[in-house]
Amino acid sequence: MSSKRQILVTNALPYANAALHLGHILEYTQTDVWVRFQKMRGHECYYVSADDAHGTAIMLKADEKGISAEQHIADMRTIHEADFKDFLIGVDNYHSTHSEENRVFSELIYNRLKANDHIAKRSITQAFDPEKKLFLADRYVKGTCPKCKTDDQYGDNCEVCGATYSPVDLINPVSVISGATPIEKESVHYFFKLPEFTDFLKQWVNSGAIQKEVANKLGEWLDSGLQEWDISRDAPYFGFEIPDAPGKYFYVWLDAPIGYMASFKNLCEREAIDFDHFWEKDSSTELYHFIGKDIVNFHALFWPAMLKSANYRTPTKVCVHGFVTVNGKKMSKSRGTFINARCYLDHLNPEYLRYYYASKLSGSVEDIDLNLEDFIQKVNSDLVGKVVNIASRCAKFLTNGNNGILSSTIENQALWNQVSGAKDSIANHYENRDFSKAIREIMALADLANEYIAAKEPWKLNKDPDQQQKVQDICSLGINMFRVILTYLKPVLPSMAEAGETFLNDSLTWESVNQPLVKHQINPFTPLMQRIEKERVDAMVEASKQDLPKAIEPIISGPLADEPLADEISFDDFIKVDLRVALIVKAEHVEGADKLLQLTLDIGGETRQVFSGIKSSYDPQSLEGRLTVMVANLAPRKMRFGMSEGMVLAAADKKGIYLLEPDSGAQPGQRVT
Ligand code: 2FM
Ligand code: ZN
Repeated sequence: MSSKRQILVTNALPYANAALHLGHILEYTQTDVWVRFQKMRGHECYYVSADDAHGTAIMLKADEKGISAEQHIADMRTIHEADFKDFLIGVDNYHSTHSEENRVFSELIYNRLKANDHIAKRSITQAFDPEKKLFLADRYVKGTCPKCKTDDQYGDNCEVCGATYSPVDLINPVSVISGATPIEKESVHYFFKLPEFTDFLKQWVNSGAIQKEVANKLGEWLDSGLQEWDISRDAPYFGFEIPDAPGKYFYVWLDAPIGYMASFKNLCEREAIDFDHFWEKDSSTELYHFIGKDIVNFHALFWPAMLKSANYRTPTKVCVHGFVTVNGKKMSKSRGTFINARCYLDHLNPEYLRYYYASKLSGSVEDIDLNLEDFIQKVNSDLVGKVVNIASRCAKFLTNGNNGILSSTIENQALWNQVSGAKDSIANHYENRDFSKAIREIMALADLANEYIAAKEPWKLNKDPDQQQKVQDICSLGINMFRVILTYLKPVLPSMAEAGETFLNDSLTWESVNQPLVKHQINPFTPLMQRIEKERVDAMVEASKQDLPKAIEPIISGPLADEPLADEISFDDFIKVDLRVALIVKAEHVEGADKLLQLTLDIGGETRQVFSGIKSSYDPQSLEGRLTVMVANLAPRKMRFGMSEGMVLAAADKKGIYLLEPDSGAQPGQRVT
């Protein structure tokens, strides 16, 4: 084996304000499988995590529950730790960013940035909730867009017309927290001088530390110029007070990644590990962060720059994954596909999901679809139908024929060499986080093993007293191949591997793959994994469904009261608007937009692209093939996400959006008058 590596691994720290869901579990599975693999290979590898416990959202959540923030984060930590454990996520330490270690490192790093003149201080104006006495981040202010007049837009930009503005420019702005009208207020903020790290970051981003596709995106940001990063927040805030700045707190994202160090420090103290050796500049150790694609800027810009300034090592790799979709769609509470980790665990074995995720993870940032039909089919067919089947077909002949003692010879050396010889190739796939390739290769070996047993038909030979040795030899090879296959799967299926170790009376190590078990006593076989029952999956989806509004409330005041009729227009005015029947050919999510869908419309021989703020009420797929009505002669508008060439017609109220649809028979392109 190559020399022993020293590796520190982290996953993104979950916020202490919500339960974990199957999206989180994708990342922790990816991280855990990689860590277990490294440990199996004999490397010194540590996996640390923690709750991300600071920030306004957490403070407000505690308020809402009527408990202290400290109590709230303690409760959440207990829940998160149980979810980690039950999904077999083998962290070496689970800590909190609201910890003494984290305070020490946050202050230390901040002081170093300051000493290096990388901190700026200036006064800024922000929206302020006069009732709650709280500065409001942009997402806590909503109102009507000053440009296109769309209601219910966030305080920084309009998702419908793309206008950017500050919260106070909104028409009728309201604080999402209290409903009060925000006022403008000045206060002093502290900034990290990120632009000074542009050259360093350009080099770091292209050093192989991050996937190419992500590096390209970061390159665009770097080329368009970095901004100074606001790292302070005013009281009241749940976090660490900034040294020598009373009433000012570190922004949660400043101390969150420092939480990686804090959790590791906590482990080092407990287990006498040399913390400094792992974090010193130019350390020979490796540092891996596993994160989702939504938090790349924090990990691949701010964090390396902070570490650089503070004279620490930078990450070896930031491994970015995509989001989880369920049945091809964004997770949705109403469909029951927003599945909490605990709800899953209440219904199903964690290893089913670990296996399914592993079979789909490729080391790229593409989204991963959890298709529930495919999930059942794949787990049942691969794990139960292929892997466990090898052992169950062979074990009884050994137990009955030879008291469970394996033969002294290998019945088919070439086959054995092929199965045990795949070790390096499979290791390579694990190392590159290309778990799907590892799984494909392992399942191909399971197919070979099953084909071998099927062709040899030990159950037939067993009827012939002269063939008893042959039966033992065939089944012993079967069991040896099973052992190797289960060893390859051990990072993904630690619990099934453990049950396999009891059955095989052996510990499954990467090193011992090449040495077959001969003249070795095994134990009686017990089924190592049960099939997934579809009813359990259905019950989980049912349990995940949020209570939906039972009936539409009677309309008391009527929409006309909310929005009085506009001024009268002439027929000539009306006829200027060219309305056409449009066929929705394609409807897609827009990356980074909460409200918009991108529609491709056919208006009878001409195709238009329109961005429409109807996402909250429609699944894109359900729109494809539908007819609607569009304003076809509206001047094209440049939006943040591209050109919008018209508008589709819809009514809207607080309950939903109602797209107009002509009676059937209407043809795309027909004029609507
Ligand atoms: O996005 C999130 O869920 C953050 N709590 C992740 C923090 S990662 C690290 F920086 F702590
Ligand atoms: Zn607008």
